Amino acid sequence: MLDFTDQAFINDPHPAYADLRRTGPIRRVALPSGQNAWLVTRYEDARRVLADPRLSKGLPVTGASAGGQQALTAAISRHMLAVDPPDHTRLRRLVSAAFTVRRIEALRPRIEEIATDLLDAVKGRDEIDLIDAFAFPLPIQVICELLGVPAEDRDDFREWSTVIVTGSMAGSDQFATSMREMIAYIGRLLADRRANGGDDLLAGLIQVRDAEDRLTEQELSSMVFLLLIAGHETTVNLIGNGAFLLLSERERWERLTADRGLLDTSIEEFLRFEGPVETSTFRVASEQLEIGGVTIEAGDPVIAVLLSANRDGDRFPDADDLQLDRPANPHLAFGHGIHYCLGAPLARLEARIAFTHLLDRFPGLRLAVPPEELRWRPGTLLRGLWELPVRLS
Ligand code: HEM
Repeated sequence: MLDFTDQAFINDPHPAYADLRRTGPIRRVALPSGQNAWLVTRYEDARRVLADPRLSKGLPVTGASAGGQQALTAAISRHMLAVDPPDHTRLRRLVSAAFTVRRIEALRPRIEEIATDLLDAVKGRDEIDLIDAFAFPLPIQVICELLGVPAEDRDDFREWSTVIVTGSMAGSDQFATSMREMIAYIGRLLADRRANGGDDLLAGLIQVRDAEDRLTEQELSSMVFLLLIAGHETTVNLIGNGAFLLLSERERWERLTADRGLLDTSIEEFLRFEGPVETSTFRVASEQLEIGGVTIEAGDPVIAVLLSANRDGDRFPDADDLQLDRPANPHLAFGHGIHYCLGAPLARLEARIAFTHLLDRFPGLRLAVPPEELRWRPGTLLRGLWELPVRLS
């Protein structure tokens, strides 16, 4: 049986998921939050789940902790990842222009600058925590600037969002406090921008809300919440997990140092092999349906385990081998279907810049502790390390 709170599972969930793919690829389990959900662990089934319109985002998830938190999270729960069409289409369209490959590419010089500054700041040090010094501050600074959020606030919401997304404290006082503070913070941010104006994404969204009435107040604060959280809690793990994979078997790092032509396929392989997002968010069956021969009742929550689907040997040859030059890589790390990650071009660009700068500046980079001593963060939603201590030369 799966034990999500077991440290051995948290450190390496892959054997347990491999077991599920073999013995019960569609299995109803109790999650640490107290909710029951169907876990879908094979690639083809997971892909189907993500694209099936009968699996809705719009229905309430029932379960032990879901109910109590509904009032608390009302202000931030009407975002595009929580609703079905036509609301989903409307909300996604409002911001999609800001996330096209072209618009994101235009951010390149600024992202390069942020990466340079962060690495300048650690020059001369022997040892650093790569998560704290680089993998975390890079994406958070980028999303803050894109939205127009003051950078000096980022330490606060790092703390809140860690508690919120880890999920392991769902139902606890600390979780409720973090939620409340994050919601209050977003309220202050919107009030301040309304009073002072601006020309960033936040100001643009306020304009859409106030002048054109295409967005409710709740949808506006939910959008800001989603973009802030999704914009950094994930990319930190792409940079962190990728660096871990390269440094824990250092010939990979050396190979990439010598052949930068492998960078793009390497990043896709990090996404597949140890993706930042372990499971999809919940879908709820809007009617009775069948997945892979198993009957799902109307109202049942379903989750696609992206981490597992991406290791499915029926889809990926030698799925448990990390191949920096893997030729075809249709992984599900960014999801699939209408909720496919809006930020994928941004995440890829940030990762490309991050690894290029790391390889250029610190070719001698190595782990400062044995890989088995590293601690992985708990919670089934995200997959990432608490810390990644490295020596710079
Ligand atoms: C949705 C992964 C970075 C914004 C998603 C989903 C996944 C994902 C798996 C779909 C979840 C589901 O269907 O249940 C990732 C990964 C990232 C990343 C692995 C980094 C490596 C970003 C960034 C942003 C972002 C930088 C930027 C702001 C979003 C949004 C959605 C989303 C807005 C909801 C899309 C919708 O509902 O239509 N992401 N994400 N993500 N992501 Fe990302």
